[in-house]
Amino acid sequence: MPCSSALAPFVIAALVALGPLPAGAQNNVAPPPAAISQRAKLCQMCHGRKGLPTVKNTPIIAGQHESSLLIALQEYRNGARTDDLMGRIAKNLSEDDMKALAA
Ligand code: HEC
Repeated sequence: MPCSSALAPFVIAALVALGPLPAGAQNNVAPPPAAISQRAKLCQMCHGRKGLPTVKNTPIIAGQHESSLLIALQEYRNGARTDDLMGRIAKNLSEDDMKALAA
C-alpha cells in the first residue's frame, strides 16, 4: 500500500498531537464532540469526507452500518484484522471513540 504508508508518519504524528482524551472520556462518558470531529477529520484524510476515499486502496466506509464499522475498528485493535496503518490508528482509539466515530 505505497500511498497510505507514505502518509503513516503524518497520521501517527497527528494522533500524538491530538493527545489523550479528557479524563471523562475514559469513564463511559461521551467525549466532547470537538474531540471526535478532530479524529473524524483524520479518518477523512484517507476515507474521504462523504463517499469517495481520497487515498488509493482505502475502502469506502461512508454508508456502512454503524455496528459493522465498530466491529471492524475493534478487530483492528484486538488483532483479528491486521493492517499496519489501521491497526495503529485503532490502538489509539478508546471504546467510546470507536462508537462515536462509527455513528
Ligand atoms: C492513512 C490512511 C487512513 C486513515 C487516516 C484512516 N484509515 Fe481506515 N483504512 C485505511 C485503509 C488503507 C484500510 C483498509 C485496510 C485493510 O485492508 O484492512 C482502512 C480500513 C478501515 C475500515 C474497515 C473498512 C472495511 O470495509 O473493511 C474501517 C471501519 C476504517 N478504516 C475506519 C477508520 C476510522 C474510523 C478512521 C479514523 C479514526 C480511519 N479509518 C483512518 C486507511 C486509513
